[in-house]
Amino acid sequence: MSEFRVRSIRTLDAAFPVPGDKSMSHRAAMIAGLADGVSTIRNFLPSEDCLNTLGAMKACGVVVEELEEMRGFGPTTMRIHGRRMQLSAPSAPIDCGNSGTGMRLLAGLFAGQSFDCELFGDESLSGRPMGRITNPLGEMGAKIECLGEKPGCAPLKIHGAKLHPIRYELPVASAQVKSAVLLAGMFCEGVTTAVQPADTRDHTERMLESFGVKVVTEGQAISIEGGQIPQARDFRVPGDISSAAFWVVAAAALPGSHLVIRNVGLNPTRTAVLDVIERMGAQITRTVLSTDDGEPIGDVEIRGAKLHGTELLKAEIPNLIDEIPVIAVAAALASGKTVIRNAKELRVKETDRITTVVNGLRAMGGQVEEFEDGMEITGGAPLHAATIESCGDHRIAMAFAIAGLFASGETVIRNTDCVNTSYPGFSRQLAAVLAESKNAADYDLPNVPVTA
Ligand code: S3P
Repeated sequence: MSEFRVRSIRTLDAAFPVPGDKSMSHRAAMIAGLADGVSTIRNFLPSEDCLNTLGAMKACGVVVEELEEMRGFGPTTMRIHGRRMQLSAPSAPIDCGNSGTGMRLLAGLFAGQSFDCELFGDESLSGRPMGRITNPLGEMGAKIECLGEKPGCAPLKIHGAKLHPIRYELPVASAQVKSAVLLAGMFCEGVTTAVQPADTRDHTERMLESFGVKVVTEGQAISIEGGQIPQARDFRVPGDISSAAFWVVAAAALPGSHLVIRNVGLNPTRTAVLDVIERMGAQITRTVLSTDDGEPIGDVEIRGAKLHGTELLKAEIPNLIDEIPVIAVAAALASGKTVIRNAKELRVKETDRITTVVNGLRAMGGQVEEFEDGMEITGGAPLHAATIESCGDHRIAMAFAIAGLFASGETVIRNTDCVNTSYPGFSRQLAAVLAESKNAADYDLPNVPVTA
């Protein structure tokens, strides 16, 4: 089992890109696979989660030509031969690994097919709630059995059925649920509408639009008319702001540091982490360089400072839900209190991220009060080294690797293979940061494509 060993650094002075966005890579594999024609996808994230989704599309007859790869991980540039909405039956159950996004979006995609299929995942995914998608898909006429030991959980047996459109009010602010309903709606006759209780990431809507599918957004109601066929196109996946967030916090909490993250996705439904770290006292500049593929891409420049605590706003929570573990680390390094509430969703992520974050911070000397829906962190107490168990959760492993950069002694993060689910190359980058005598480097990042 792999581990990270981390010690404190004095400064961070670097410029680099991070690998492609996970949410968008899943969607690119699916939408290009459904499209009419051949799409070239660039900067695809070759993480286990996204490769599983690509594998699911291949299992349904989608042909993928791999053009460039991230050595040791998988393809970053590929040509996807779309099936014009006509998928074929997979010959075996489909492995979604650790990915809630993969399983929930694929369930939406498969619910209206003329074949049966089964989706399964690892132990963590087999314990996560699937009722949130089987309920709306069931209302549309889908027949999905949850076969898991835990009620309402995967494996999912999907019996292909003719679906009908619905207007669905989401009980939780979840882009996965919204996207599952919209993808299922593509296979219905008539207009399907998902109404979200708050803004959630809008990558599905934007990507469908850029593939020529009309999606109508009126306030919080997002509608799609079935029967439209996406038109193949070239799409460049921006760098993942959720991966950038680890380095943003590392630089922000180290006064004198200067970091530029290049070509990162700056979609406003994902950038609340930058607002929060800015509010905590760091200087952050965002420069949008392109919106060509329907998603803003640009550079983020961070100058470190002495941080102070803040309160996360209720409306910000869905926007930065994946960044909360590393924001909690920033809070432990800041002076004063940081309050994180309305974030109960964290309890049903890859781990119960309220408990795993609270336990990890306490083990390093952090002062944290745990609530059912969040935590309050009183920052400023010096962090000391500890052995942290990732519990198989990629964002916990990476958030505590960043905490270790600020702790006295050597912090050990155990069970770190899981970082490959979202951030292939993270350990190499961490090693580069730690190896630099003054922690300054123009890192040669591992996502530089290498021709296969
Ligand atoms: C995602 C949506 C979020 C997020 C997940 C990726 C997506 O989940 O936490 O990592 O790609 O749609 P929810 O939709 O459950 O909030």
